[in-house]
Amino acid sequence: MTDTWPHIAPAPGTPSCGPPSFEPERGWWVTRHADVRAALTDPAFQVPAVDTGPPGTLAWLRATVSRFSPPLRHADRRAVAVRALAPLAPDDLRLDAVRLTVAVLDRAGDSVDVMRELARPVPLRTLADRLGFADPAAVGTAVAVVAAAYHPGVDPALTARADGAVTALLALAPQGPPEVGANLIGLLVQACDATAGLIGAAAHHLLPPGVPTTARTADLLAEVLRLDPPVRATRRVTVDEVRLGGRDLPAGSPVLLRFDAANRDPQVFTEPATFRPGRPGAGQLTFGTGERGCPGDRHALALATGVLDVLRERCRRGLTPMSYEPHPTLRVPTTLEVSAR
Ligand code: HEM
Repeated sequence: MTDTWPHIAPAPGTPSCGPPSFEPERGWWVTRHADVRAALTDPAFQVPAVDTGPPGTLAWLRATVSRFSPPLRHADRRAVAVRALAPLAPDDLRLDAVRLTVAVLDRAGDSVDVMRELARPVPLRTLADRLGFADPAAVGTAVAVVAAAYHPGVDPALTARADGAVTALLALAPQGPPEVGANLIGLLVQACDATAGLIGAAAHHLLPPGVPTTARTADLLAEVLRLDPPVRATRRVTVDEVRLGGRDLPAGSPVLLRFDAANRDPQVFTEPATFRPGRPGAGQLTFGTGERGCPGDRHALALATGVLDVLRERCRRGLTPMSYEPHPTLRVPTTLEVSAR
């Protein structure tokens, strides 16, 4: 078989690029790269407000983390997360991920489920340990429960379990004020499904036979992030009347910024559907941008690189069909078996 880069088709439901469009039941969709960037950096577009709840509950966590904070609270809370991440050298995270992945594969039989054994546990254990949480394995399990219920609008049945997990996580967090603990937990929750989705997508696209083994994992991950983003979109609401991409959006409009479409914008990417490791100018929007852009991007890439370096060396997978967890904006495979080469 000749070696070729994978062809990554748009995930079902990915819109093509065009001017902002409105439908009453779904609000505005923004799909062009320039429009998504503009909305992410324009204060007229804000993160939708969330309700709070009693201390130690999921609702309290959501209302206390930077991710869902209103402008007046956002900068201070984000600073907690950025300060905590600053001493974590990406190369150390990568090496931790390599070590844990090797240990899982050494223990496993002929095959391993990447999603269950690696994609969530490895990044979460590594980050929990380096951020000073007690019992990183227990933290990883509790964070996955919280992450499943974290985004507003998911199945409310998941909330009760998540309340218990938030309380457990606060007890395992480093000593400090509850708001600091919440934002450290917020880091792990933000890391959980998005990083797992990247590792799952990369294993899906890069481990079948015939994919060249020579390119740097980091360059391959950049193209996987662009063409099969684990975070497909993010939400905003307009707080003023605002003009975007030639359309007038009234104040109070719900807006969905579609990274999956913007990452294939032909105005920005030459031959956008072609998988091209080392593309000049990168420019994909999967980590967002602006004041609320992902502060864990380098950490996510380092962790995923560590896992994928080992998998590329030791494992292969067949071209079996994939299924994904139900979620309005994330794309995370449910299971993904790989076998030893
Ligand atoms: C492939 C993995 C990841 C992807 C694709 C991703 C993507 C994103 C995106 C798009 C946002 C901004 C959302 C918005 O503006 O509405 C965001 C925010 C955030 N991410 Fe990530 N992320 C990933 C991994 C991580 C990791 C590993 C961490 C922590 C170590 C992290 C921590 C955060 C935090 C704390 C925020 C909120 C920032 C704020 O409130 O200003 N993320 N992420």
